[in-house]
Amino acid sequence: MDIKITKTDCPSPKPDSSTLEFGKTFTDHMFIMDYSSDLGWHDARIVPFANISLHPASTVLHYGSEIFEGLKAYRRADGKVQLFRPIENIRRMNNSAERLCLPQIPEEDALYILDTFVGLEQDWTPSAEGTSLYLRPFMFGNDESLGVHAVHNATFMIIASPVGSYYKEGINPVKIMIESEDVRAVRGGTGYAKCGGNYAASNRAGEKAEKKGYSQVLWLDGVERKYIEEVGAMNVMFKIDGKIVTPKLTGSILPGITRKSCIEVLKSEGYTVEERLLSVDELFSALESGKLEEAWGCGTAAVVSPIGELMLNDKKYTINNGEIGKVTHHLYDILTGIQWGRLEDTFGWTYPIK
Ligand code: PLP
Ligand code: COI
Repeated sequence: MDIKITKTDCPSPKPDSSTLEFGKTFTDHMFIMDYSSDLGWHDARIVPFANISLHPASTVLHYGSEIFEGLKAYRRADGKVQLFRPIENIRRMNNSAERLCLPQIPEEDALYILDTFVGLEQDWTPSAEGTSLYLRPFMFGNDESLGVHAVHNATFMIIASPVGSYYKEGINPVKIMIESEDVRAVRGGTGYAKCGGNYAASNRAGEKAEKKGYSQVLWLDGVERKYIEEVGAMNVMFKIDGKIVTPKLTGSILPGITRKSCIEVLKSEGYTVEERLLSVDELFSALESGKLEEAWGCGTAAVVSPIGELMLNDKKYTINNGEIGKVTHHLYDILTGIQWGRLEDTFGWTYPIK
């Protein structure tokens, strides 16, 4: 495929990597490609970062036809830049596209686009501890019509943002509120797809949590309101009586790539990992009997993040004395070690940029 590159005339200064927040500054360029049912994907281009213009009837503005991905480029100690399991993001994006009736992008084209775009922007990958270049591919329906139907026109873009840690707590334990009123997704809905609407529907509970001093919401299943699902921007795992337990992928939670990687690391080290339904009652009885040893969340933005406190209906439960547990710490070290190139990648997960 052919990507036309137009470079900016006025490059921005790179931000100081010790002051980076999450998703506030953007690199000099962005990738754009258009789709129509007649032409397929066409006009792949990298252009200077700028506002885009949309027809006021554009599908995305009315019916929320939007999906996105999140992955990071990491600066290794030897100065090279690498991605972590990009093919998994590409496959998940195509699954999300299928759910929302948006067009597929052939895997080899998507990988070539990522490689070319990150190749051009790689100088923006910061090198300070814990920082990276966050990549945000996204696709939206762009028909100029108010009819409700599968889209005939779409746009695919990638923007990039040098980032520090997602939570202000960094690797210190976060406090999470279990939401008992709103639900995020139900089986048969869009929970497994990474679509903007899932996040829009989460905001009310997220705001409530924030006002009470909690970082994010832990969702319960939408039918029985009984089973643990996932956190706002990460999957969850627990160490209960020596075993690792994580909610199974029932269709209403996001199949996280960090979740998959944690499971593969843990299994390779001989841990028993149970992917199953886990009720809030089971979790709290494990807490009360001292069998809940650790809890953590995992995701691209959040990395591996210890959970030090859970709150349900204003009742607070402290986990592991509010401290990071051994397995959580170990997973953090292994994943970040592979991502930042400090450890040998025995799993073959990294993708170096030339
Ligand atoms: N769950 C939700 C709702 C998310 O937004 C994310 C972040 O992408 C995750 C889980 C973790 O997924 P991944 O590890 O692929 O980043
Ligand atoms: C990610 O971890 O990449 C995410 O997309 C989470 C997010 C919604 C910030």
